[in-house]
Amino acid sequence: MSGPALSYATWHTDPTREAAMEESHRPFWRHFIETIPETDLSTRDILDFGCNRGGFLRLLHALKPFRRALGIDIAFASVAAARELAGTAPIEYEVASDVSGWSDRFDLAFSYEVIFLLPDLAAHAAGIHAALRRGGVYYAVTGCHTGSPLWSAWRDRIGESTNAPVQDRSPEDYADAFTAVGFEISVRRFGYAGFVSVSKDRSTFPRLIDAVDYPAEHKLLFRFVK
Ligand SMILES: C[S@@+](CC[C@H](N)C(=O)[O-])C[C@H]1O[C@@H](n2cnc3c(N)ncnc32)[C@H](O)[C@@H]1O
Repeated sequence: MSGPALSYATWHTDPTREAAMEESHRPFWRHFIETIPETDLSTRDILDFGCNRGGFLRLLHALKPFRRALGIDIAFASVAAARELAGTAPIEYEVASDVSGWSDRFDLAFSYEVIFLLPDLAAHAAGIHAALRRGGVYYAVTGCHTGSPLWSAWRDRIGESTNAPVQDRSPEDYADAFTAVGFEISVRRFGYAGFVSVSKDRSTFPRLIDAVDYPAEHKLLFRFVK
């Protein structure tokens, strides 16, 4: 495993791909938000770890308004874009790669396709544990793990087009790291059953059945409870 970059402008080496990722993730974020059992977030403080351009928190606030939120990311140009796009929503965005400055501060934390990029998963788990209030929940989604049949083909390709080191972990590696710091853990298939876009470029999903199965079957949604 290589060490962490201190910071970079955008996660993708081609900066135009950040906005494209935001567009492509929106239907999955909506499903994520609709899947969690929490409905009334009006008294909750929220963290989005690896927020990129901030779209997840904007959508969460539109669908389930919260008291306030913080989005953090290591990509400083994407965080700058998130700040510009925030509008009047009670959301702050900061360039950071850990939550050590925000102890006992959040009721709910989220990350969508971030944990496979973190070189020190034990430190991340401990940091989130400290940042959550008692009873707080961290929802983390990733399909980037050795249990996915697509992963071995994706691992190097993702690493070559992005600025953070890609890690090679099993679902059990994620569970073990969060168990070790005291979280109670459950997990489910992400279970996205909506339309998936069909691209002429078959490099990500060689078969249409892969594009349908990946977000339904292979992407995992972890629930870590403090
Ligand atoms: C695949 S993108 C997902 C972004 C966003 N969560 C979404 O759903 O579109 C992964 C994000 O994690 C961020 N990231 C990677 N390593 C990080 C770290 N050590 N600390 C904070 N953010 C990190 C990247 O900069 C990037 O924005």
